Amino acid sequence: MDLLTLVRKPVQKISVIQWGKTNYDNSYIILKWGENPYYPPKSIINAIKRSLNAINRYPILMNKLKNKLSVYTGCNVSQICLTNGLDKAFRLIAEVFIDRDDEVITFTPSYPVFDESINMMAGKVIKVPLDKNFKIPTIKLLNKYVTKDTKIIYICNPNNPTGNFIATNQEIEQLLKLNLIIVVDEAYFEFSGRTAISLLKKYENLIILRSFSKTFGLAGLRVAYMLSSPKIIDYITRIEDSLEVFNTSTPSLTGAIASIENYQAIKNNIEKINNTKRLLVEKLNEINILTYPSFTSFIMFNLKRIGIKTKDFIKRTEQEKIILKDVSIYSGLSEYDVYMAIPRDDQLEKVVNSINKVIKNLS
Ligand SMILES: Cc1ncc(COP(=O)(O)O)c(C=O)c1O
Repeated sequence: MDLLTLVRKPVQKISVIQWGKTNYDNSYIILKWGENPYYPPKSIINAIKRSLNAINRYPILMNKLKNKLSVYTGCNVSQICLTNGLDKAFRLIAEVFIDRDDEVITFTPSYPVFDESINMMAGKVIKVPLDKNFKIPTIKLLNKYVTKDTKIIYICNPNNPTGNFIATNQEIEQLLKLNLIIVVDEAYFEFSGRTAISLLKKYENLIILRSFSKTFGLAGLRVAYMLSSPKIIDYITRIEDSLEVFNTSTPSLTGAIASIENYQAIKNNIEKINNTKRLLVEKLNEINILTYPSFTSFIMFNLKRIGIKTKDFIKRTEQEKIILKDVSIYSGLSEYDVYMAIPRDDQLEKVVNSINKVIKNLS
C-alpha cells in the first residue's frame, strides 16, 4: 500500500524546519530560543501547583483570563481569543482565511512558523526581503507583491531573529488600508513597550498576537492570545468552539492569570533582562563584535569584523556548554550572523568569558 497517496498534497510538501538538537542537560546554558532565563516568581508557581487539584476536570478559567487580559490590554473581552501558544494561533488564522492558492506576504528574515500553516492550507507564501536595516520596504514597493489573491500580510514586530521593529505604526496603518488581514506578532511586547493596539479602534482587519512564553516565563505551559475585532474573533472562535473547546489547560490558564496578577514581579525580571542585555552588548562591542539593536529577550550579532563564521563559532561555544542559534541559514542573513538569548545575570560572566575564549582559539 502506498500510504503517501492518501496524504494531503500540502502535507506531503511540508519541509520540517531544522531547529537542530534540543535535548541538552542542565549543565548547558541554552540561549537558542529567546526564552525568559528566569523561573517565574514563587507566587505564580504556587498558584500553578494548586491548580493541579483540578486537573481531573476540563478547564473553566478561560473567561477569568479573558477578563484579566481585557484590563491588561484595554481591549474588550469580545476582542480576545486564547490559544495554545502562538504557533497554534497561526494555524487558526490560516484555517479561517486561507483557501487553495491564496497568498500571504511574509518578510525575510523573520519568524518562519506562520509560513508552514499557510502551506498546510495549500496557500502560497510570498517572501519579501526586508531592507538592509531589516525594515519593510516602502508601501509603493510592497504593493507590487499584492495581487487579487493576497489575503494576509504578516509583520513580526519586534522581529525574530533580528530583534528590531520592522514597521512603525504609521506603516502598519498604511497596510491596514489595503483591506487585507494584517497580522502583527507582538510576542515580545513587554520588552519593547510598543504596540499596535491603538489601531484596533479604527481597523477591524488587524490581528495582534501576544504570548505568555517570553516575558512571563511560561514557555513550557503553551498559552497565548489574539486581539482583534469582535468579527474576526468570532470567526476564529467558531473553529475553536467546534473543534477544540478546551484548547488551553488549567495549569496554563492559572499560570497566565497569576502572571497578570503578579505583574510587578514579572516587570522586575524584564528590567533585569534588559539590563543584562545592555551589559552583554557593551562586552561584545568591546571585542569588536557588531550587535544589532534589540527590543526582545535575545540579540543578533555579526562576526564578520573579527573574521569568524557562525558555524565554527557555534560549534566551539557548544563545547563551552553554551548553546546559540545558527541564523546564517535564514535567507537575508549572512554566514556571520548569530542569535543569542539573554542569559541570567549570574550567567553573564561565564558566557562572556567563553565567547572570549572561543574567539581567541579561532583567531
Ligand atoms: C515572533 C514569535 N512569534 C511566535 C512565537 C511562538 O510563541 P509561542 O511560544 O506562544 O508559541 C515565537 C517563539 O519564539 C516568536 O519568536
